[in-house]
Amino acid sequence: MITDMDNFTLHMPTKVIFGRGTETGVGQEVRKHSGNILLHYGGGSIKRTGLYDRVVESLEKAGIKFAELGGVVPNPRLSMVRKGIELCRKEGIDFILAVGGGSVIDSSKAIAAGAPYEGDVWDFFTKKTVIKNPLKVGVILTISAAGSEMSPSMVITNEEGGRKLSARSDLSRPVFSILNPELTFTLPKKQIAYGSADMFAHIVERYFTNTKNVDVTDEMCEAVMRSIIRNSKKAVADPKDYDAQAELMWAGTVAHNGILGTGREEDWASHKIEHELSAAYDIAHGAGLAVIIPAWMKYVYKHDTARFARYGRNVFHVFEKDDEKAALMGIKETEKFFSSLGLETTLKGLGIGGSRFEEMSRLAAKPEPIGNFVSLDAGDIVKIYRLALG
Ligand code: NZQ
Ligand code: ZN
Repeated sequence: MITDMDNFTLHMPTKVIFGRGTETGVGQEVRKHSGNILLHYGGGSIKRTGLYDRVVESLEKAGIKFAELGGVVPNPRLSMVRKGIELCRKEGIDFILAVGGGSVIDSSKAIAAGAPYEGDVWDFFTKKTVIKNPLKVGVILTISAAGSEMSPSMVITNEEGGRKLSARSDLSRPVFSILNPELTFTLPKKQIAYGSADMFAHIVERYFTNTKNVDVTDEMCEAVMRSIIRNSKKAVADPKDYDAQAELMWAGTVAHNGILGTGREEDWASHKIEHELSAAYDIAHGAGLAVIIPAWMKYVYKHDTARFARYGRNVFHVFEKDDEKAALMGIKETEKFFSSLGLETTLKGLGIGGSRFEEMSRLAAKPEPIGNFVSLDAGDIVKIYRLALG
């Protein structure tokens, strides 16, 4: 049984460069690591916003040679990763500059892991082998969401088998991340909402733990969740609100860089349940989480009603003495929060029915049951999908 704070090692070597105009110094920053890089980006937002031109100008000024590869899609694909690996090998590239969101950063990390590896890059995701000497990755972030800008993980969809799997290594944390909140001003409101649900979920996955005596991280988690609730509403209302976007950008990074999980066992069942949804239906990760998190909460809260009551009181200011009632009110508030951002909180709302529940549950629980707060097998997961149906 887990009682006290776990021993831990925290190693976060990512240099964070935060604030207005910071992307113009990217050439100088890259120069410290490489003179021959891959510039990797998504479906075109960086060209529409003018960011691409500023990045290219800065790279050229610093005398950096670069090849480019655009077209990364949300739920980034393995075929793109393979293309990137080939290009890096052909051009003798040793550094990847990711300009975009979690999808571009994850694609970059996977290319970086795969380029020096003789086998198939998918081996890292099936856990056949571990990442050893990846190329370096630097980031200019354009959406506050996944937290990949400082995290050790990457999530890639293998379109051949319809699986979305993650790999992780501390060696895959970016060497630097440039975080300019102004770059998020052009985001559609939906994307701000998806991103906010994702960063909130990253804290939920850490907050619900069986580890006792972890006051520092309990209270840090609660504070950051409250800040996400406040500022996401402001940012959705006015995407050009610098203060709100700045808070969200830092919250998204802090939510997933590891610090809020120090000394405690983390859960991660909801993410695995969601990854099956986004693999099967190609929905946005944050859209899936806004549905799965409340359903997961309803399914597991009785495991530790007092913790859920504390969540209701400390995160949503629920004023209720009875633990059972406070717990249920906290879950209700979670749904209301997601709805207030314009997100659906049921699968029906997303246009998804129950035809693939059994298949997704089986895959989510493969090779073993998921979740540490409450361990869930395929039978449990199917019930959570049913609760999510609405
Ligand atoms: O492709 P472009 O044209 O750039 O458009 C993107 C994309 O359509 C658009 N966008 C981004 N910045 C913009 C912008 N549009 C206008 N202005 C801007 N400034 O937003 C869309 C979504 O981008 P994406 O990168 O997919 O979003 P996000 O950061 O939410 O990343 C989602 C991916 O990250 C994974 C998810 O599973 C999903 O595949 N995750 C990665 C994690 C990690 N590596 O640690 C952890 C997370 O739990 C998550 O699983
Ligand atoms: Zn996530």
